[in-house]
Amino acid sequence: MKVSFTETAPQSPSLLARLVAQDKLPADLPVAIVEGAESSRFAGKTGQLFEGFVEDGGKVVRLALAGFGKANGESRQANLERAGAALAAKYLTSGETSLVLDLTGTDLSAADVASVLLGLRLRSWRWDAYRTKLKEEQKRSLAEVVVVGSPDGTAAAWDEQAAVATGVEFTRELVAEPANVIYPQSFVERCQKRFEGLGAEISVLDEDEMRQLGMGALLGVSQGSTREGKLLVIKWMGGKADDKPTVFVGKGVTFDTGGISIKPAAGMEDMKWDMGGAGAVAGAMLALAGRKAKANVIGVCGLVENMPDGNAQRPGDVVTTMSGQTVEVINTDAEGRLVLCDALTYVQREFKPKTVVDLATLTGAMMIALGMEHGGVFSNSDDLADKLLSAGKQSGDKLWRFPLGPAYDKLIDSPIADMKNVGPRWGGSITAAQFLQRYVEDGVDWAHCDIAGMVWADKPGATWDKGATGYGARLIDTFVRENCE
Ligand code: BES
Ligand code: MN
Ligand code: ZN
Repeated sequence: MKVSFTETAPQSPSLLARLVAQDKLPADLPVAIVEGAESSRFAGKTGQLFEGFVEDGGKVVRLALAGFGKANGESRQANLERAGAALAAKYLTSGETSLVLDLTGTDLSAADVASVLLGLRLRSWRWDAYRTKLKEEQKRSLAEVVVVGSPDGTAAAWDEQAAVATGVEFTRELVAEPANVIYPQSFVERCQKRFEGLGAEISVLDEDEMRQLGMGALLGVSQGSTREGKLLVIKWMGGKADDKPTVFVGKGVTFDTGGISIKPAAGMEDMKWDMGGAGAVAGAMLALAGRKAKANVIGVCGLVENMPDGNAQRPGDVVTTMSGQTVEVINTDAEGRLVLCDALTYVQREFKPKTVVDLATLTGAMMIALGMEHGGVFSNSDDLADKLLSAGKQSGDKLWRFPLGPAYDKLIDSPIADMKNVGPRWGGSITAAQFLQRYVEDGVDWAHCDIAGMVWADKPGATWDKGATGYGARLIDTFVRENCE
């Protein structure tokens, strides 16, 4: 989507859009539009859209009114995004190629306008790479937005938000791609390509290097696959040289069959998005590098494929993690925690961070608890949990906090090793988090976000179409903006 800014409206545009606060129709609208809007019960509520036609110099112009609801309140930016998103949803395949967004008569700030554009851009993303037979009317037509009369600073505000949009889109792309296309090696390659020239530093550990480091848990998951596992490290050091980095770790199981504890066939295709945590981390890093964030942030993706074959690990196998602790693998389908525990040890030893946050599509139980509205957050620090909850609210990537405690922790004690990788059925998301907490070193603030319900949507939402939502990229970007810059 090309976005440009001008002072004067182009002559007789084909599609003109105006933004309307709730119950505040602009006074300068043609009477037919006012009456049409009123008789259609258009009130400017958030995301509401009205379309009418006006004549301009012998040409018929489509005039769209997009509502952004009550002008004030804490959800103002989200409401503005939804107004932009409503325009994208309506006109993406309408045949219109260009939308003129006329701001005259509104009192929107530069940040407000950037929010509208962000919503517009995010809602117009689709992944059509594999559709070779789209009919003309199904193809995306809208390619350009021309903003008329925006306040000073809008272009700069949009540059920042455009970098965020690029990050979210990258997360969606990685999540949407099937597992025959995105596997550990190709995930790494796609990142190397996307980060070119941005000033981020990318490094990769292969299986031999991980074996040297003793990452027996991650490698145990990977050993049933013919694809080699990778640990991807993306560094963005935009802050002060002596600031400790904040580290984000993503679960990147590029396909989760369950391994020998194999999953039922129905719905297994969903497990292509079991790398959604890693996708969120990679997309967030792209956003941070794109907008030159003034912070030191490291993103690490634990990339493996969980497959059953003659070399796969068996239920009951005992593996030794990089931390030295041993794990009895009761269920090979509880593989995410096995990948994350070694990645967590690695980042703490290698980067000495004060704060580590992991994101993972870790448990089906999280979806039972929270549905598709919130991710779950678990933390050893109230302060860090609060900061994540706040970033969640601010970004729209919402989180809800869950408890940890010794009574849950002892549920994963093993009769033969230091711990087992699953607890009893009840509280499955919490015992998964307890497992991870056993790998958090003294003095480190840690949080775990279980985002199983959030990375994929069966129906369109406010700023996404059905499919990959991009969840997590904005959460991280916002967390960094609010706490590290
Ligand atoms: N990737 C799954 C969790 C998941 C399931 C995410 C459905 C999204 C949708 C994870 O690796 C897994 O299989 N977890 C098991 C854990 C169990 C064996 C303790 C689960 O949730 O059933
Ligand atoms: Mn699994
Ligand atoms: Zn999994």
